[in-house]
Amino acid sequence: MLKVVVCVSGGGTNLQAIIDAIEAGKVTNAEIKAVISNNAGAKALDRAAKHGIEGICFSPKTFESREAFNEAFTAKMKELAPDLIVLAGFLVKIPGAMVEAFPGKIINIHPSLIPSFCGVGYYGLKVHEKALERGVKVTGATVHFVDGGMDTGPIIAQKAVYVQPGDTPEVLQRRVMEEAEWILLPQAIDDIANGRI
Ligand code: GRF
Repeated sequence: MLKVVVCVSGGGTNLQAIIDAIEAGKVTNAEIKAVISNNAGAKALDRAAKHGIEGICFSPKTFESREAFNEAFTAKMKELAPDLIVLAGFLVKIPGAMVEAFPGKIINIHPSLIPSFCGVGYYGLKVHEKALERGVKVTGATVHFVDGGMDTGPIIAQKAVYVQPGDTPEVLQRRVMEEAEWILLPQAIDDIANGRI
């Protein structure tokens, strides 16, 4: 049984997709051990609670320095000892010590076809604003392993989504979530849990 810890910061729709996929049997041999959020008000924590999953708030704001946060965050993750850490809309940089402690065991979902529209500053709605600004006809989402960089680790899977005439960033974001993110992330977890990756 793959023990998974999911890290979130906001709405938690990707977390919900994972929870639903596990409960529907579409993801097997995996369980969410805990959900960690840097944001105490994250709706994602409510989603976890509704499904009896432990929610833990770990915010850099409650530590006297980023170094102190990184140390405590890494120690907590080691205590939870997951087989897989899933970043699902987590807006805090993963400490290098955590990447080193969990080599090849941290994955992230990014709302574009990496290497487009990714890296420092590219998160949430901004990614879709930039895609529309550039005028791309196709965008999508990427699941990748997390290394020491920002959206730079080995790509696991991608799914393309067509941009439609008149799309706003909000409409495009929702389509990328529905047609790509919420499919790719559970699928990647199932593949890892069942030894296909
Ligand atoms: C998603 O668009 C995800 O791709 C990005 O942040 C957003 C998180 O949304 N990393 P949610 O919290 O899963 O609803």
